[in-house]
Amino acid sequence: MLLENKNVLITGAGSGIGRIIAKKLAIEGANIIATDIDLEAAEETQKMITKTGRKAKSYEMNVTDEEQIKEVLQKSIREFNKIDILVNNAGISSMNKVVDLTEEEWDQNMDINAKGVFLCCKIIGKHMIDKGGNTKIINIASMAAKRGVPLLAHYAASKWAVRGFTHSLALEFAPYNINVNAVCPGYVKTKMQERELKWEADLKGKTVEEIKQNYIDDTPLGRLEVPEDVADVVIFLASKYSDYLTGQAINSTGGSEIH
Ligand SMILES: NC(=O)c1ccc[n+]([C@@H]2O[C@H](COP(=O)([O-])OP(=O)(O)OC[C@H]3O[C@@H](n4cnc5c(N)ncnc54)[C@H](O)[C@@H]3O)[C@@H](O)[C@H]2O)c1
Repeated sequence: MLLENKNVLITGAGSGIGRIIAKKLAIEGANIIATDIDLEAAEETQKMITKTGRKAKSYEMNVTDEEQIKEVLQKSIREFNKIDILVNNAGISSMNKVVDLTEEEWDQNMDINAKGVFLCCKIIGKHMIDKGGNTKIINIASMAAKRGVPLLAHYAASKWAVRGFTHSLALEFAPYNINVNAVCPGYVKTKMQERELKWEADLKGKTVEEIKQNYIDDTPLGRLEVPEDVADVVIFLASKYSDYLTGQAINSTGGSEIH
């Protein structure tokens, strides 16, 4: 096992990519702190992990709420002593043309996707430094952190922010031997994707099936990504096999970004 006895805190662990990251890291031996704005969903993930025989806890945590992050950190320290790996996965999206985009939509995407990563890195990163470093931070960005995406300009802006922040923090945290990297997934089959397929179909006057086919046609490997594909890259970035990697934003896109 690659992550035996490592304590991992995951944000947005109640659904989609976050839940599968929790499951796959637990199979590699990690203990899991499953956090989500939706406590019931995080509890469900905790139950799945406990069945694998690993230790798991679940906490309500909104990544935009500094006080709540601090409280969860204190509870995690009491239960696990130290957080070895932080996976900043929580995120949202909405779709709109820029000319129709509301300020609320812009702010919500920037707050949860970008500021949330900053706050968690600030608070849990400080804890990692206080505990002597030698830890890992993995931020789930997006293919939209590497290119422009019509109807998702605000989302892309928030994910480019995550990428810039990841690279900068990697330099600040390097002296503590804390690796900071990002994963950039492509078209991943989750609830977020289901919502986006409907929005995009409505905005373009097409069917959901047509939009889904566009996603597949944009993917050289010829299939939609599944959360397990993203989790495999996270395992690598969490493991000793990436000890000399920092400040990277690794594509997990089936080749899409080179189209
Ligand atoms: N699905 C894709 O195609 C895709 C592609 C690239 C990147 N991503 C990124 O992957 C991450 C996970 O996405 P997903 O597809 O699994 O989405 P999802 O909607 O299935 O899950 C997101 C989870 O985040 C939680 N969440 C939302 N707001 C939160 C907040 N303020 N604080 C804490 N938790 C919050 C939700 O409750 C949910 O459990 C996101 O950062 C997303 O931007 C997704």
